[in-house]
Amino acid sequence: DWKMDAFVEETIQSIREKVGGGKVLLALSGGVDSSVAAGLLSRAIGKQLTCVFVDHGLLRKDEGDEVEGVFGPNGQFDLNFIRVNAQERYYNKLAGVTEPEEKRKIIGEEFIRIFEEEAKKIGAVDFLAQGTIYPDVVESGLGGESAVIKSHHNVGGLPDYVDFKEIIEPLRDLFKDEVRKAGLELGIPEKLVFRQPFPGPGLGIRIIGEVTADKVRIVQDADAIYREEIANAGLDRSIGQYFAALTNMRSVGVMGDERTYDYAVALRAVNTVDFMTAEAAEIPYEVLNKVMSRIINEVRGVNRVFYDLTSKPPGTIEFE
Ligand code: XMP
Repeated sequence: DWKMDAFVEETIQSIREKVGGGKVLLALSGGVDSSVAAGLLSRAIGKQLTCVFVDHGLLRKDEGDEVEGVFGPNGQFDLNFIRVNAQERYYNKLAGVTEPEEKRKIIGEEFIRIFEEEAKKIGAVDFLAQGTIYPDVVESGLGGESAVIKSHHNVGGLPDYVDFKEIIEPLRDLFKDEVRKAGLELGIPEKLVFRQPFPGPGLGIRIIGEVTADKVRIVQDADAIYREEIANAGLDRSIGQYFAALTNMRSVGVMGDERTYDYAVALRAVNTVDFMTAEAAEIPYEVLNKVMSRIINEVRGVNRVFYDLTSKPPGTIEFE
């Protein structure tokens, strides 16, 4: 794609001119936007860039290692990569908390605290980089109506908890599909480039009620099976967003000769134009059936699987 190729080259040049010999800090979430921003900055200024990646223990299965594989010391980009393994810290903070907005608030505030701590260790930087894209700019980064219904912690204004002089937003003029093309141009793996939207609070809002390490394990494993089977069926690029969630419901079942009393997993899949409204996707029954039987057989602690048929509105896409 020559247009994207030109964009990448021009942006690299203009980053170099702007940054000079300065230091740049970027919060890398592993999402498409921050990953592409990291790739561009790395190509432009190498080790003058430091990326802080916080693993909050609420990522999808193996995702932390995948991000580290691409951007870490054995990856393909020249930059300083800091991975903060904050799983325990988050689980401790979230213990006993069941109210959705309170969970969101804790997860968001903990991120700020950790990022602030890391920024302090790094010392003064000249620039803070963000993966803001054009739709964020025009919607003032509020994700439409969701911001009112649910507090999004990873969009909005500038952080005032880091010492920096200027902001760099290399993707400010791009739409999502252009960001993806730029990502491919930079050699970021397709798996990352075509990643689904994933909420900042992560699995924390796909586990209804209290978050525990064991529930995270259940939802990660169930979700990995679901995604694998959706990909096997060739549906992974045609469904808007799909994931497994863990309901807080336990019910009686039978496994062999034994009574079980285990959790129910909910499968969600929606088609949507703008994420403001959505409809449940029509997934072939045999695909759902295979996912159900694999989850029951492979994920300890689950004895029922539901498919969520609810539109948005009245449902939301996520569960909390
Ligand atoms: P809801 O659940 O509000 O989700 O129908 C709409 C879209 O927004 C995503 N979402 C979030 N994205 N931070 C984000 O960056 C958040 O806190 C957040 N909450 C929901 C959700 O995955 C869906 O794509």
